[in-house]
Amino acid sequence: TGPVTITIDGPAGVGKTTLARGLARRLKIAYLDTGAMYRAAAWMLGPSAAEMQEEELAKRLDGMRFTLKGAGPDSCLLLEDRVIGEQVRTEEVGLLASSIAALKVVREYMKKSQQKMGRETSLVAEGRDMGTVVFPDASCKFFLQADAGVRAARRCRQLQEMGREADEQKILEQMRRRDVQDSERAIAPLVPAPDAVNIDTGSLTPEEILDRMAAIFADTG
Ligand code: C5P
Repeated sequence: TGPVTITIDGPAGVGKTTLARGLARRLKIAYLDTGAMYRAAAWMLGPSAAEMQEEELAKRLDGMRFTLKGAGPDSCLLLEDRVIGEQVRTEEVGLLASSIAALKVVREYMKKSQQKMGRETSLVAEGRDMGTVVFPDASCKFFLQADAGVRAARRCRQLQEMGREADEQKILEQMRRRDVQDSERAIAPLVPAPDAVNIDTGSLTPEEILDRMAAIFADTG
């Protein structure tokens, strides 16, 4: 039997990162934050990225090598041997990431890179298209949902904890724009895989959700 893949997809601020990390820790396997890959690429390419020609983009992307260092829950996503820092966590970088994430060359590059990691290591992979496009054969798939207001408040708190200024109303607007952009794009839109288990994260604690996820995973094994 090869490596195991568990996918967690859903919109911004729904709790994917906390839950994917927590599940990886419980199962003692690696955690892959694919949003960080799109964010890091957006950060490296800069604001002109959305207007770049495909060829130029492909060339720039080819120079970006993403790797997972280590195999367990303490594994770390690297871009060219460097840890992806917190500077990519702002909503501004998120919006730019969402713009380049609609482009075919970008998605193809990321998919190839993510599938390679999935062949090498057991993963909890979080993103938008993990269960639908990148790992359609994953052994266990989750799709997270929560009210936009709940998600904006959560994201706001996270940014404040990082010591950043955060205006909840502005974050709500940016998140809504990003969700629309991610849900309506032609390639790999944000939709639940038909075989994903849907979970509303608004009314449960992370520990309760992790218990449910772990039980569901145990049932599939
Ligand atoms: O998850 P996170 O908010 O960090 O993702 C940033 C952006 O990257 C998303 O809004 C989305 O446009 C893009 N993304 C994607 N597919 C993924 C993960 C992220 O298109 N698997």
